[in-house]
Amino acid sequence: MPSPELNVPIDRESEEPIYRQLIRQIRAQIESGALTTGARLPASRELADELAISRISVVNAYAELRASGYLSAHAGRGTFVAGSADALTPVHNGNGHLRALNAATASLPAPLLDKSLRELMNMARKPGIINFGPGAPPVDFIPVMQIRDAINHAIDRDGAKVFGYEAPEGFQPLRASVRDYVSAFGIQCSAEDVLITGGTQQALDLVMQSVLGEHDVMATEDPTYIGVLDLARTRRMRILPVPHDGDGMRLDVLENYLLDHQVRLIYVMPTFHNPTGSVMPMHRRRQLLALANQYRVPILEDGVYHELRYEGEPLPPLKALDEHQNVIHASGFTKNLVPGLRIGYVIAHGSVYERLARVKATADISTPGLNQRAIQLLLEHGILARQLERNNQELRRRRDTAIRAAEHHLPTEVRWTLPQGGLYLWLELPHEGPNAAELYLSAVQHGVAYAMGTVFFGNGGGNYHLRINFGAHKPEQIEEGFRRLGRAWRDLSKHYADYEKALLL
Ligand SMILES: Cc1ncc(COP(=O)(O)O)c(C=O)c1O
Repeated sequence: MPSPELNVPIDRESEEPIYRQLIRQIRAQIESGALTTGARLPASRELADELAISRISVVNAYAELRASGYLSAHAGRGTFVAGSADALTPVHNGNGHLRALNAATASLPAPLLDKSLRELMNMARKPGIINFGPGAPPVDFIPVMQIRDAINHAIDRDGAKVFGYEAPEGFQPLRASVRDYVSAFGIQCSAEDVLITGGTQQALDLVMQSVLGEHDVMATEDPTYIGVLDLARTRRMRILPVPHDGDGMRLDVLENYLLDHQVRLIYVMPTFHNPTGSVMPMHRRRQLLALANQYRVPILEDGVYHELRYEGEPLPPLKALDEHQNVIHASGFTKNLVPGLRIGYVIAHGSVYERLARVKATADISTPGLNQRAIQLLLEHGILARQLERNNQELRRRRDTAIRAAEHHLPTEVRWTLPQGGLYLWLELPHEGPNAAELYLSAVQHGVAYAMGTVFFGNGGGNYHLRINFGAHKPEQIEEGFRRLGRAWRDLSKHYADYEKALLL
């Protein structure tokens, strides 16, 4: 259907921000039937030019209308009216957004970031900015001396072999060490079930490539890890985002999708979910396993934050509860030990494992033998266990500093849940004020940056969320970062109406 004429007069004198005027008017036109299901809306740049307003206002308005189920986006094709408003079945997704169940489509995730948002995020690279955005573990936790000793030891012991090709499945002693290591979480497997990979990211990529073909559908939590959305984008796989309700993926919605769509893989982070920090309770773990078994859909479990627990009782990974060998477990020694050696692993069985090993050999022939030996020695000498004990205590201190600073410096309406592990705090701004993209400009000007919530959603949403990686910063920086964020918020809120006008080009 062609782009309709949009009648959205903008009142520049109004107290109401421009993007809210857009939302209100487009919504009214959908509800009145003036805009009908399937109608294509003008591209954001087109509409911005036509109305002489900033593109970010249009991008924000469309994003919010998508999050509330009025619009849907199809990569490369545009933005469409999702359905007449009274036909929508609203479902709360735990982030306070209304979503339309019957509007759910599996799609290639929308392009990562609108150019204007990408430009905004690049601004955080300036020196002096406290950047809470990236998902990196703390550099100051990396045990540099022990890694150097392990590398020297490996070279002295194995000579030139450390620089040769390894077996595609991995250095055998490391595969055996991983088997022993995961048995501490209750995962029973043999060394032959362990595939060594280039970090968890490659582990996820290999599993997706082994199980999914182009355009096949993978269900994920919504929000989810941005790296998996990126993989789906580059491998042209479709994502079906399942609302996350604070305890993980909503299983009632998942079941509807399993009935209606050909879902081939379910990707979850049961412990210390990125970005929300949530932990899936035991009963839901069991229900998810039962559901996946019933519909014979394999689960890809990402356990990369599993051991970064500083509070509460550990729960077993799904793989430890998996009686039907239906869970493929991916993790790595990156967040807990050293990201730069790029060592991860997959635990899988039988024909799934064989296919994975073939895809792995095709991808990169072998994971560097020196790095595998270094990690194996660090495991053998108990360095990881010692690191975890010390690091988790420090992470807890950083979490507490972040919470105190948030309480002190941010407005009382900002909400979060207390993470019991992991690196992140997931903040929700009050919906009456500036959203995370608008605050970002002001934040960077005040010398602090964060990850905008929108990047973690497969199909729109998260406009008022931001993810703070407190773990990567020392307590003094955390305190200062929140002080700056609070100032940015107050400055922007004071001049919010003026700010919207200032965005006019
Ligand atoms: C949930 C999740 N999985 C996987 C990765 C990738 O980690 P790695 O460095 O092990 O490749 C990340 C990194 O941020 C992550 O957050």
